[in-house]
Amino acid sequence: MWKRRIRSLIGLDVGTRSVKAVELTWNGGLVITGFGYAELPAPDAVRDTVARIFQENEFHTRRVVTAVSGKSVIVRYLTMFKMSPDDLRNAIRYEADKYIPFDVEEVVLDCQPFEAPGLADAGPNEMRVLLVACKRALVDEQLRVLASVGLQPEIVDVDVFALGNAFETTMAGSDGDRVRALVDVGAGKTCVNVVRGGVSLFTREIHAGGDAFTAAIGNRLGLKEAEAEQMKRRPGDQVERVRAAVTPAVDDLSTEVRLSFEYFENQFDRGVDEVLVSGGGSRLVGVPEDLGRVVDRPVATWDPTGDLPIAADRVDADALREHAPELAVAVGLASRLRKDA
Ligand SMILES: Nc1ncnc2c1ncn2[C@@H]1O[C@H](COP(=O)(O)OP(=O)(O)OP(=O)(O)O)[C@@H](O)[C@H]1O
Ligand SMILES: [Mg+2]
Repeated sequence: MWKRRIRSLIGLDVGTRSVKAVELTWNGGLVITGFGYAELPAPDAVRDTVARIFQENEFHTRRVVTAVSGKSVIVRYLTMFKMSPDDLRNAIRYEADKYIPFDVEEVVLDCQPFEAPGLADAGPNEMRVLLVACKRALVDEQLRVLASVGLQPEIVDVDVFALGNAFETTMAGSDGDRVRALVDVGAGKTCVNVVRGGVSLFTREIHAGGDAFTAAIGNRLGLKEAEAEQMKRRPGDQVERVRAAVTPAVDDLSTEVRLSFEYFENQFDRGVDEVLVSGGGSRLVGVPEDLGRVVDRPVATWDPTGDLPIAADRVDADALREHAPELAVAVGLASRLRKDA
């Protein structure tokens, strides 16, 4: 898509509660050469917060990859008759209203055939197709914000796929035959991406995350939102009370994750072997354990920055380590450098 001369790329993840920017540079291998993190003081502060990150931190480039997510984004895994890429694009355009609950004129569409060898293969004359549609207005708004702070958008991706790309990039040496569910618990949503051998087989966005845990603490312990947030992050000697307050909310979310796994298993006749959690919401004490109990599978946390080397002269390595669990999407976005370089 672009020429080799592009050596650095920034993954910019604008989440519900925080903005993360990770710059990767290709130098015979990937190196983390830039990093910025800031919480969003309010939902309408995206532009200022992004601008601040780029003022306060050093980056080599202004080229960014961002992502969309939420109810304006539709992801469908389809089975279609085998056809050429051109025919596929035409067919999808004609049939899009079958799969997308929006006016086709209002969306940006992308589709791509994919294979899942050994797992419930498509019939001999069929192929599996991944269809992604996003409301054009969401993409346009995002591009407008980026341009207004002097950034140059290269690609607009989807959060849940970036999660898979981060895993591919930093955990590439892991056993490719295992079916892994990547579960990124954010603030407003939780992304689930079931991957095997570098292929995403199933994705889902669940509309709950760390905000729901804060609300549960606030309700049960009678705290205002900011106090509940503090208590959640640093429960100190109140750990047991916090755990008791949030467990129902964590269980609700975990049940949704389990239902996703059941759907996947029905489709592919193959179970999820293990679960890897990331996202700020997963930092709450007890979340991986509660999730493991409900989905009845091994659950581990993982570091989306993996063992990527860090340019220590430009990057605050301590801050990067501190926020590592929240960086899966940003790393995945920036890692498009690896695919396209
Ligand atoms: N130390 C911590 N302990 C518990 N929860 C935490 C901690 N640090 C951050 N969180 C929670 O993590 C959430 C933010 O995580 P993250 O940055 O991954 O979300 P986001 O990307 O902004 O949101 P989303 O992906 O839903 O759009 C918030 O709910 C926040 O309260
Ligand atoms: Mg997020």
